[in-house]
Amino acid sequence: VAAGVPGGVPEARDDATVLWLGDAATGVISLIDQTRLPTEFVRIECRDVPAVWEAIKVLRVRGAPAIGVAAAYGAVLGARTGGLADAQAVRAALRDATTFLRTSRPTAVNLFWALDRMDRVAEAAPTLDGPALLGRLLEEAHAIAEEDRAMCRSIGRHGAELVQPGQGILTHCNAGGLATADYGTALAVIFSAHEQGKPVHVFADETRPLLQGARLTAWELQRRGVPVTLICDNMAAQVMKEGKVQLVVVGADRIASNGDTANKIGTYGVALLARAHGIPFYVAAPSSTFDLSLSDGSAIPIEQRDPREVTEGFGRTTAPVGISVYNPAFDVTPAELIAGIITERGVIRPVVAERIRAVLGADA
Ligand code: MRU
Repeated sequence: VAAGVPGGVPEARDDATVLWLGDAATGVISLIDQTRLPTEFVRIECRDVPAVWEAIKVLRVRGAPAIGVAAAYGAVLGARTGGLADAQAVRAALRDATTFLRTSRPTAVNLFWALDRMDRVAEAAPTLDGPALLGRLLEEAHAIAEEDRAMCRSIGRHGAELVQPGQGILTHCNAGGLATADYGTALAVIFSAHEQGKPVHVFADETRPLLQGARLTAWELQRRGVPVTLICDNMAAQVMKEGKVQLVVVGADRIASNGDTANKIGTYGVALLARAHGIPFYVAAPSSTFDLSLSDGSAIPIEQRDPREVTEGFGRTTAPVGISVYNPAFDVTPAELIAGIITERGVIRPVVAERIRAVLGADA
């Protein structure tokens, strides 16, 4: 059970995506190993920074906000390796940890946003002794998790207003509770509409090559009793043409200041299909996913992943040995294809730099 630090202690639940168990000096991170879903629900414990880095890298924990939460707790694990008696050693170990964790995955800006927050805690409190600093760091990581929970609930409330009873809603990848501290972003919109009693039917793209849609989104929706039909990614156009989809909502990994949005590879194609069929395409994301330092999406770093995810995903070889493979994990959807961005502060619409600044304010 999370304890040992006053204030901001998250609710301990055994289905929470990421949890801290114990106090600052001896606690561990507990997370759902998402590579094992949907056939096995297994929690693992991360006790050091390399374990957290590995968990992020291989997608045991994934989804932009969840990566940020896990990394923040990982920074606590790292900070204490310096030995608590020496505050300077705690600071140096924290810097080493955050520097290393930044190399785990490049696209989701929540990772960098969360680690910057952890670094700022140490900078803002230069006189704290080792144990007090470590306690402050754990408090900050708990705050990041708690704020994400609250933002997701708020995204759900704002987004549900866009959903009409009886609609078919298509989503891509997984932007659910597993991808956040809890409840999700794109799926929060759907969960919230469902909880309000609006009947909806979800089409979940399976999301090649790692099948986050089939393994995770379909699992989450089924678990919450939301009607869902799984489709292969290449079926979306036909499903739209048949009139089965009235709304598209997806998550985001990084949103530039003009609204260009990086999300799971295939999202851009879905946005183009939605435009061709006259279906509104929405992005749901917390303010922590915006990167206002980038003027547009062309500067968003796109992660390139192991070709074997394409040629031998899930254990079976499905392509000739030695074949050349291109495996970008994300693409960028231009702002002009996005009807609105659903944030915890309201819906940004139209998606233009001025509206983004107006809704997010200077602190984003
Ligand atoms: O590679 P992943 O599984 O981490 O990609 C996740 C996504 O693209 C999600 O849509 C995004 O992070 C938003 S999660 C609320």
